[in-house]
Amino acid sequence: MTEMATLILDGKRYELPLFTGTEGERAIDITNLRDQTGCVAYDPSYSNVGSCRSAITFIDGEHGVLRFRGIPIEQFERETPNFVEVAYLIIFGRLPTPAELQDFSRRMTEYAHIHEAMKYHFEAFPITAPPMAILSAMINSLSCFYPELFQLEDKEQFESAAARLLSKVRTIAAYAYRSSLGLPFIASHSNLRYCANFLHMMFSMPYELYRADPVIEDALNLVLLLHADHGQNCSTATVRLVGSSRANLFASCAAGVCALWGPLHGGANKAVIEMLQKIHDKEHSADEVLGMAKDRDTTFRLPGFGHRVYKHYDPRAAILKRACDRLLDKLGRQDPLLQIAQELEGKALNDPFFVDRGLYPNVDFYSGIILRAIGIPLNMFTVMFALGRLPGWIAQWRELHDDPSSTICRPRQIYVGQSRRDYLPLEERIDPSPDDGPDSSPQLSGIKRSE
Ligand code: CMC
Repeated sequence: MTEMATLILDGKRYELPLFTGTEGERAIDITNLRDQTGCVAYDPSYSNVGSCRSAITFIDGEHGVLRFRGIPIEQFERETPNFVEVAYLIIFGRLPTPAELQDFSRRMTEYAHIHEAMKYHFEAFPITAPPMAILSAMINSLSCFYPELFQLEDKEQFESAAARLLSKVRTIAAYAYRSSLGLPFIASHSNLRYCANFLHMMFSMPYELYRADPVIEDALNLVLLLHADHGQNCSTATVRLVGSSRANLFASCAAGVCALWGPLHGGANKAVIEMLQKIHDKEHSADEVLGMAKDRDTTFRLPGFGHRVYKHYDPRAAILKRACDRLLDKLGRQDPLLQIAQELEGKALNDPFFVDRGLYPNVDFYSGIILRAIGIPLNMFTVMFALGRLPGWIAQWRELHDDPSSTICRPRQIYVGQSRRDYLPLEERIDPSPDDGPDSSPQLSGIKRSE
């Protein structure tokens, strides 16, 4: 029997169905709330809204748990599977057999090149263009070259589109970097694995092949796979929102890149290193940075700290912190920014402001130190996040499309603007009254609340 929650509104009782996920998460189904009561639910940043049922990623933010298709991410630190294997798991729901992995990898090798015409697009961007802008534009332009993949009706078509996207986005990311330096494009190499191939396309020269140190290749592999999916975060929710209009996979993922770009989301990995560098250069002390983050009168937030879902140490950050130490140790290097990051973390985790609010390092706090050690330039950091998150976007887009109950996403709003008034002909308008200006909407605090 379906469990019900009771809502009492204006003295009337409404029964709303409850349902429970496989890990015990409970949700009140308000799909028919407006039809039944005339009210909508108000939750502007969706903190309390389950926007879909998903079988891809489980997160328990209170206990710092993250699982991909049921597998705890700590197992990926131990077993170090290839990123492509994890991408397959995320996209298709289970680990590939050796034959399936070989076949999927073969397709990716086959699809790694981009259309010659696309290469001219890079020339049209200014040399200073942010790689995230290029990435989004180029992913969207893939739609122009593969219109036959707009409708992915069968498994074969979907598999082909997924392999294409994963492979070509890697090429596009590397070329975005090379075009910013005016360097010639380097073709992918069929014998290299995903990360080594990416590093080859980034750093090889026509006269000298770049050979990735296996330690570096493994570190990049770990960074990418830890980013592979993360539930309904801002960029993934964007991919679903755009995809819900039946926009194609390329267009939906291009929108995801734009959402990821912001410093509150994927852009935080770049912001963390910029902050650490400022502390290193003595522009600010660690205490000053923490002071600014605590100042409620500024919008500054400590980059790489805090999370909408985790009120505990982000398990990805814990793995990456260990990986930083391992990588620098194996490379026999030191990075002064790692020490600053550790000091900053220590101070924050002993500060009541951060403790009381449950603010811990998130995935972006330590990933940048690894990317620096690999040699990835700072302006490419968020592109690396996008490469890692791509399997999640593809899987979520597919899940949405395979769900027969999915309809176009279309939230409502609560209108707080002017009440009905009449159009005034131009010649009758004199100086605007204070009530007429564009900023004159009553603020949200002015919403009438029921007694
Ligand atoms: N520095 C200072 N204060 C913070 C921070 C921070 N990094 N994060 C949250 N707070 C404060 C927040 O202002 C609020 O304070 P108060 O109770 O006084 O109003 C309180 O902590 C609770 O915040 P919240 O509701 O848990 O935060 P949120 O869900 O609105 O925002 C966030 C989540 C990730 C946008 C935020 O923590 C933040 O801005 N962090 C810095 C940017 C960052 O690292 N982003 C990457 C997130 S993880 C990977 C990804 O998604 O890309």
